[in-house]
Amino acid sequence: MSPVRILLLSGSTRSASTNTALLRAAAEVAPVDVEPVLWTDLMALPHFDPDDDVEPLPAAVARMRGAIADSGAVLVCTPEYAGALPGSFKNLLDWTVGGTETSAKPFGWINASGRPGGAAGAHDELRTVLTYTDARIVPEACRAIPVQRADVVDGVVVVEPVRAATAEVLRALAAAAA
Ligand SMILES: Cc1cc2nc3c(=O)[nH]c(=O)nc-3n(C[C@H](O)[C@H](O)[C@H](O)COP(=O)(O)O)c2cc1C
Repeated sequence: MSPVRILLLSGSTRSASTNTALLRAAAEVAPVDVEPVLWTDLMALPHFDPDDDVEPLPAAVARMRGAIADSGAVLVCTPEYAGALPGSFKNLLDWTVGGTETSAKPFGWINASGRPGGAAGAHDELRTVLTYTDARIVPEACRAIPVQRADVVDGVVVVEPVRAATAEVLRALAAAAA
């Protein structure tokens, strides 16, 4: 059986992002039946404009929606800004509303926040938007996996239990996509 391609979507634009570092770790420990594809091109997306949400789509938007379409499941890892999703990541999600790529697509998230409150606002909003876009949220693939900046070396989380937890989430997503 061919591996399940899982798109790893980071919600952070920061070069030293802990969220992206966690997704890099996930890519490194992915089970053999998972093909991880890391997507970090948030800055390439234009501001959402309904007038532009028509064919031909802006190239970066078409690439992003194509990456979702070509994946069997999607794993999100995003920070919280001001109690909600970062605007740039909400912008990505807005670009998916007009398409069918997320429809019935298995989605999970890993919440890397190590802060009190645990970025609950961002993840409540993520659930709302994914539900609106008809994505299939996989409960077993939605986990808090706290990360500290000290856990990151050369852009990757190196702490073993944290890495192992991401592998479990990928396994749950792959099972949902199979
Ligand atoms: C503009 C801004 C707003 C933030 N708001 C929150 C917040 O509401 N709740 C929270 O837990 N952390 C908040 N933070 C902290 C970030 O979530 C934290 O720095 C996180 O590690 C960023 O993820 P990254 O390293 O992947 O970029 C905020 C950071 C910034 C820059």
